[in-house]
Amino acid sequence: MSVATAVGGGRAEPLAVDGGTPVRHHSRAWPRWPVPAAGAEHLLNEVLHRGRWAISGPGEGELFERRFAARFAEYTGARHCVPTDHGSSALVIALESLGLEQGAPVAVPALTWVACATAVFRAGLVPVLVDVDEHTGCLTPQTLPMDVFPAAILAVHWACAMADVPALTEFAEPRGAVVVEDAAQAPGALWQGRRAGSLGRLGCFSMHHAKALTCGEGGAVVTDDPVLAMRLEELRADSRRYRPESRPGMLDLTETASVMGSNFCLNEFGAALACAQLEVLDEQHTVRNRNYALLATLLAGTPEVRLLRHAPQQDGLALYEVPVVFDGLPRGTDIASVAEALTAELGFPVYPPRAPLHRSSLLRPGSKAALAPLAERFEVLHRDRSYPVAEYLSTHAVLLHHRAFLGTEEDMADLASAVAKVTAALRTRGQRRASDGRN
Ligand SMILES: Cc1ncc(COP(=O)(O)O)c(C=O)c1O
Repeated sequence: MSVATAVGGGRAEPLAVDGGTPVRHHSRAWPRWPVPAAGAEHLLNEVLHRGRWAISGPGEGELFERRFAARFAEYTGARHCVPTDHGSSALVIALESLGLEQGAPVAVPALTWVACATAVFRAGLVPVLVDVDEHTGCLTPQTLPMDVFPAAILAVHWACAMADVPALTEFAEPRGAVVVEDAAQAPGALWQGRRAGSLGRLGCFSMHHAKALTCGEGGAVVTDDPVLAMRLEELRADSRRYRPESRPGMLDLTETASVMGSNFCLNEFGAALACAQLEVLDEQHTVRNRNYALLATLLAGTPEVRLLRHAPQQDGLALYEVPVVFDGLPRGTDIASVAEALTAELGFPVYPPRAPLHRSSLLRPGSKAALAPLAERFEVLHRDRSYPVAEYLSTHAVLLHHRAFLGTEEDMADLASAVAKVTAALRTRGQRRASDGRN
């Protein structure tokens, strides 16, 4: 079946969700995720038998955590990298390292994972939820609030579009604010030849299971600033930093304690796995990006849907969850039903974005006594704010996990056919409703 004929003409055939024949037979498997890199097993075995499973354990030889830090710094083009146990902790220590006043406001996009806002609270600051740009789903200087000026801006690269960090920095710096880049969803993405994470004062990453660079659970902060890098080390290792030189029989960490830290250390298994997965990240990006370009071409035949637009300065994509926006969604149609219909056609999970943070059931700072003063401020700050673009995208887009893009041209043809088929059904439903309304 050629890609061109597979897409079909968008006829309204019975949907699989209603008992029709699915676009793709469920016996045809989709790519799996995660894909272990060829060298992963060897490195994990090395950790297992070396007897040094944590950076705070005694032992000799190079720590994988140090190896990953050096390689990831080189990969992103930043001078320093401090690995962490999660992306959320990366955000917490990045914000803590700035030494902002307690309760200072931090701009956070309304359309992102809840950890972006909870990390702000955990750092003793208050998130100010901000609407996003309609084309990219990210913050821009124009979307920032006029009435509260934030001390920091969390520039999240959402789904697979990048926020314009240079423009945000140009806006923020003269006003004394700092831009922290959240590149959890975008390791390897490029902005005018520079890697995501290296554009802000600090760049944060997640290596959670679902992410393009994963070791199960993990994270990292990168920065060019040596003072921030030293603080970050202490903040994630209970106030300890690496000794300048390791000594046999002694811990590599020493109690420097210029700032009180927590234990957010990446363990040695995670670090070894991250080293192995980093080796294949760009190869995987190449496959995903080629397939994404094909899908974009195939979807051009279905005018009711669109992919997010990337800024012209973004010259390298790092796919995470690919949004397909259904602009032609008939009034009253729930995007969850569209996702369900696509899932049934494809035998692959298609899902809507999570609720935007202003109505997320996961963001409940008031449920923790320790956060009470910050939670109160949060509530007051958010009275009478609205987020029309975040609302629109979260109720008109469905997301496809990047593993779908690790496959073949036929997989892209199936995706496009399923979108065309479901869109045709929606069109028919819309026409029926319009004519019912006239009669
Ligand atoms: C944009 C963003 N920031 C932060 C995080 C938190 O990372 P983790 O789940 O590793 O704590 C995520 C995870 O989904 C994310 O998508």
